Amino acid sequence: MTVDATLTAMAEWEALEAHYGSLEDQSLRNLFAGDPGRAERFAVEAAGLFLDYSKNRITGETVRLLSALARARGVEARRDAMFAGEKINVSEGRAVLHVALRAPRDWKIVVDGEDVIPEVHAVLDRMAAFSDQVRSGAWKGHSGKRIRNVVNIGIGGSHLGPEMAYRALHAFSDRSLTFRFVANVDGAAFTEATQDLDPHETLFIIASKTFTTLETMANAAAARRWALAALVDEKAIARHFVALSTNGEAVEKFGIDTDNMFGFWDWVGGRYSMDSAIGLSTMIAVGPDNFRAMLAGFHAMDEHFRTAPIERNMPMLMGLLAIWYNNFFGAETIGVMPYSANLARFPAYLQQMQMESNGKHVDVEGRHVEVQTGAVYWGEPGTDAQHSFYQLIHQGTKLIPVDMIGFCAPLSPIAEQHDLLMANLFAQAEALAFGKTAEELAAEGSDPKQTPFRVCEGNRPTNMILADRLTPHTLGALVALYEHSAFTQGAIWGIDSFDQWGVELGKVLAKRIVPELTAAAEPALAHDGSTNGLIRRYRRLRAR
Ligand code: F6P
Repeated sequence: MTVDATLTAMAEWEALEAHYGSLEDQSLRNLFAGDPGRAERFAVEAAGLFLDYSKNRITGETVRLLSALARARGVEARRDAMFAGEKINVSEGRAVLHVALRAPRDWKIVVDGEDVIPEVHAVLDRMAAFSDQVRSGAWKGHSGKRIRNVVNIGIGGSHLGPEMAYRALHAFSDRSLTFRFVANVDGAAFTEATQDLDPHETLFIIASKTFTTLETMANAAAARRWALAALVDEKAIARHFVALSTNGEAVEKFGIDTDNMFGFWDWVGGRYSMDSAIGLSTMIAVGPDNFRAMLAGFHAMDEHFRTAPIERNMPMLMGLLAIWYNNFFGAETIGVMPYSANLARFPAYLQQMQMESNGKHVDVEGRHVEVQTGAVYWGEPGTDAQHSFYQLIHQGTKLIPVDMIGFCAPLSPIAEQHDLLMANLFAQAEALAFGKTAEELAAEGSDPKQTPFRVCEGNRPTNMILADRLTPHTLGALVALYEHSAFTQGAIWGIDSFDQWGVELGKVLAKRIVPELTAAAEPALAHDGSTNGLIRRYRRLRAR
């Protein structure tokens, strides 16, 4: 796969730069006033999601030019290469096939001469059988008690997706089971998660693609000690531990029977794995049928992404709008505000997906990129966020495009509060776009001395994503929307969105520092002065 070195010299890029110049000072007020059909035109529906992108600083010409850029950069060809199982993760020589994880049984996707779909469904079927056993109580702990607690131990993609999905789909989960998620190597995470659990009734899911990750291996060892302290017999491990991994050898070495292992493949990136075996905790919580409904939601969005023309393609439009603000307006971040308490962990999940994917400084051929790449994604659920940092989005000096997510039907029986939630969602997008002028304040009789402080300039862009209800299907579609938006951005920049070499250096250095902290004798340190000083100070103050 090759990409042009000179993105900014392309005619399509230059056309966007010129167009930006003509639009820079346009306000959303004017754009709406001059175009009554705008809201209908800048809207698209797919896989049960509705996207209103009319409150963006764009015209029809912007969409046309961004689409032309996507065509010229070969975004569609790259997408087709992904679906065809080509090794588009060039730095690791791997296919990128999370879309195969949710493809129906009768599909065929070939990698290295082998159709991967039968294997995908074989694992899903084994997961379903196991989940049913745990949910029904047929799967017993070593002492014959049924499992009542499930603890997922994993980090990054082996944690954020399962934790986010469990919370998002809580309304669909088996309330007789308790779920905990342990990621941090800080022992407090494991201690807090297990302190009120009975080891006889607890199942540990050790989730790690590589089964070598320091944090997960340390927590898995802690879990083993914790379980055996009560269960005593080594044979108990087979009833209380399962592994989710691509590394059978390491799983066996840890002492987990590979019969209790649910596998996946090197063509599934960690941050794209919540719908693989890594989703076992989700499946135990919500049951195989709901898990399959989630996969169907993913697949519906995949199909839309694969077949819709760029101008009507929701993930491509979201990706192109992200490029528009990042590379032309100079926006550094994108806020994601779900108006749903159940989606509280969605922004954290998206951070890994977006920032580990597109935080890259070279293109697929190893040349330094010419423009800014991945934006900082961040966010919190509304309405909480309104009472925290929204002030800066409304009146600060930084441009922060915001994605807002809402649902028309509530999950809670306290339905009247849902109208309050949704009123706030719509009000915030309106306030951000149109603000409040000095004239409007004067007409309302506002104290003139306060006017400068009360004026809201507006012109703050938002995407509004609406769905009927936060169901498993909706969640799948929503996650796939952001996966393919990340893909689109990466394809425009010509980077490898599927490796993560940047996190390796810190891991290597940490391994070197561990013995320097724990050695009985003062070690000879050869770091920089700051790191040496910090290590010495820690050794002095380290209390045991
Ligand atoms: O350090 C980053 C990373 O490799 C992520 O990409 C991954 O999701 C996470 O660590 C956990 O990796 P594993 O599932 O192999 O334990």
